[in-house]
Amino acid sequence: MSEEQSVDRPPISSPEDITAFFTSLEGRLVNELEALSEVESDRSDLYEQVELRWTGRKNGIITQVSGWMKDVSSDHKKNFGRAFNLFKSQLELLLKEAKGPFDTYLELRKLHPEIGHAGLDITLPGTLRAPGIPHPLLKTMHEIVQVFHHLGYSTNLGPQVESDFYNFEALNFPPNHPARDTQDTLIIANQQSRPSRDRLLMRTHTSPVQIRTMIAQAPPIRIVIPGKVHRNDAADATHSPIFHQIEGLCVDTNITFSDLKGTLDHAMKALFGSDVKTRFFPSFFPFTEPSADVQISCIFCGGKGCRKCKHSGWIELLGCGMVDPAVFTAVTEERRKIDPSDDTYNPEKITGFAFGMGVERIAMIQHGISDIGHFYSGDMRFLEQFA
Ligand code: PHE
Repeated sequence: MSEEQSVDRPPISSPEDITAFFTSLEGRLVNELEALSEVESDRSDLYEQVELRWTGRKNGIITQVSGWMKDVSSDHKKNFGRAFNLFKSQLELLLKEAKGPFDTYLELRKLHPEIGHAGLDITLPGTLRAPGIPHPLLKTMHEIVQVFHHLGYSTNLGPQVESDFYNFEALNFPPNHPARDTQDTLIIANQQSRPSRDRLLMRTHTSPVQIRTMIAQAPPIRIVIPGKVHRNDAADATHSPIFHQIEGLCVDTNITFSDLKGTLDHAMKALFGSDVKTRFFPSFFPFTEPSADVQISCIFCGGKGCRKCKHSGWIELLGCGMVDPAVFTAVTEERRKIDPSDDTYNPEKITGFAFGMGVERIAMIQHGISDIGHFYSGDMRFLEQFA
């Protein structure tokens, strides 16, 4: 096909003739553009041919049709001219659409089947796009981080693929120590040839970033570390192999357990309301001594006892403790590789506390969500509730 292609000139003796003619012309245009959009390979040459055939200055269809204008009887000239102009602007629009990504044109046709057949209705409402919202988990994560920002904490991040050293050894989990079993670690394959401290794994908690931070900077330290962690856990209503934690670390001179209690008591009140009470239960983590589990009074029953708190009146929320001197020793050993006289983290001079909480767990309690899977399902009916 070429520019030479001509259009048959219809007899114009009634308004219906005009409508019929331009409708058939539209049909032809739409057919050509659709045929074009079906071509899988580069369509730019074909597109140019189509464009030339319709809008070519010398003998394009538009030029041909506009040439007839002078011969249309005066009774119909006005109608013909109006239909011609409408067709021309529609042609321009369709050609422009077709030139863009071709699926745009097809999509447009799907959305507005009337285009090209009964004329373009520019009064139709546009396609409405719902504005995006932060995912509920990100929202909770942000809220928690914000509480600590207000206390003067800053944020640090670390890698999800971590070495054994940062995830375990420096945190006082010696090789083969049974405490490692509590972490259900996903390890990266084919690492046997490496020294054990360099073997890679998916971090099982955000605590390795405590070590990374202390190696890189001197006290005073006040940081929170939000991020993804991975465990070889089967998914059920309360477990997911990938979940989120927020770690906290405060290191300075004279940091005491009462600082830890005050900080977390404030944070829990900020998150769950000022009526909430906290209590600290003895626990164990290799990298804190003493260690504690923090419980809050049940926000569902106010502490009276209900199904949610298993009739205890308390909900367990996070782990914490005073940084174990063995952690400071491991950090010092690393820092001395750069400065052999480094004594920044001498456990005689400085102390600190750390805490770690699960973001999913907190979000589930905040919103009364009973299945962790909702967070990852991508189900709009769930997500829209947080808009
Ligand atoms: N990293 C611990 C866990 O994932 C939580 C924790 C962090 C405990 C910091 C104490 C101090 O179970």
